[in-house]
Amino acid sequence: MKARQIKDNIFWVGAVDWDRRLFDDLIPLPDGTSYNAYLIQGSEKTALIDTVEPEMSHILLSRLENLGVERIDYVISNHAEPDHSGTIPQILAQHPQAQVVCTPKCKNMLLDMGLASEDRFLTVEDGETLSLGNKTLEFIHTPWVHWPETMSTYLQEEKILFSCDFLGSHLASTDLYVTDEGQVYEAAKRYYAEIMMPFRKIIQKNLKKVQEYEISLIAPSHGPIYDRPEFILDAYHDWVHSEPKNIVVLPYVSMHGSTRKMVEYLVDALIEKGVTVKLFNLTVTDIGELAMALVDAATIVIGSPTVLTGAHPGAVYAAYLANILRPKAKFVSIVGSYGWGGKMVQQLAVLIPNLKVEIIDPVVIKGRPKAEDFDALDALAASIAEKHKTLGE
Ligand code: FEO
Repeated sequence: MKARQIKDNIFWVGAVDWDRRLFDDLIPLPDGTSYNAYLIQGSEKTALIDTVEPEMSHILLSRLENLGVERIDYVISNHAEPDHSGTIPQILAQHPQAQVVCTPKCKNMLLDMGLASEDRFLTVEDGETLSLGNKTLEFIHTPWVHWPETMSTYLQEEKILFSCDFLGSHLASTDLYVTDEGQVYEAAKRYYAEIMMPFRKIIQKNLKKVQEYEISLIAPSHGPIYDRPEFILDAYHDWVHSEPKNIVVLPYVSMHGSTRKMVEYLVDALIEKGVTVKLFNLTVTDIGELAMALVDAATIVIGSPTVLTGAHPGAVYAAYLANILRPKAKFVSIVGSYGWGGKMVQQLAVLIPNLKVEIIDPVVIKGRPKAEDFDALDALAASIAEKHKTLGE
């Protein structure tokens, strides 16, 4: 397999994973992904920025071999997660002089995972530089994108930002650069929603920090390279800074149709009030789609029947997911039905302590919805619409 040239003495040497459909055994990847690694040959030293998923080590090694790389002096590890660090052991074995360059926190993680021995590390502080001769790497600590140890690497002479997961997208492609911004926007937003959104506040700081640099290319470690950096920087700016929008995200489960009937009625009532609704039947939902919808929504309404005296496990999953993703929603409510009793509302409410939201009175009914229940749903829709008018104030 061949390396792909980006600029003089700068190469993409990563692996494209067309088959991958799940990450962390949790996150759906409908479009596969790539594990990008980059080789930078300076006049005196050579650096490899990130490696690849261990199952694809042979691809990285083959690209380096075909390029005739005889010596690697530094392996820059921007992030300790195995999809980027997993091939460090093979690189260190082939290049006994190579040092692993990373943040102090990353060093401890790589040691914990047994990927390098203590004597192979060179830790770098925020803003520190490393000369490769005629090329200079600057290390920018960008923590919590999405682990605490993460950093970005800036190649000063060429103005390339190697951002690892930060600003990346899960997208398998033969295109080295972004060719379809619409497609990459969706993939990057999905990725942001699934792992970056909980760290929105610190990402605001990281974004400001990298935007102080003049950037010609952003080369992430997943997905295509951005040759129009403002495209992804502007998208991130919107996701982390903008007020939530006039949108209700409505994940629901229904066992015998009562909750579904309530949900369908509520959707219509919200439409009439001018509110956009994104509806997710949790029995068929791709949770990546749900996560993406949570990026912009002002309100989350969870729909659940009562099963075995409590909330449906599908609704519990959605509430738990929303809680860990910490979206910027401002309002939450619950709708659903029960046969004879139960603690569905209480169970769901305790699952969302991370959400800084106002709870709008739930609508929980006995059996099939009746006239007064539809009135209550109309009132809920009116209340949501009124509260959305305060957005941006
Ligand atoms: Fe692509 Fe957090 O690993």
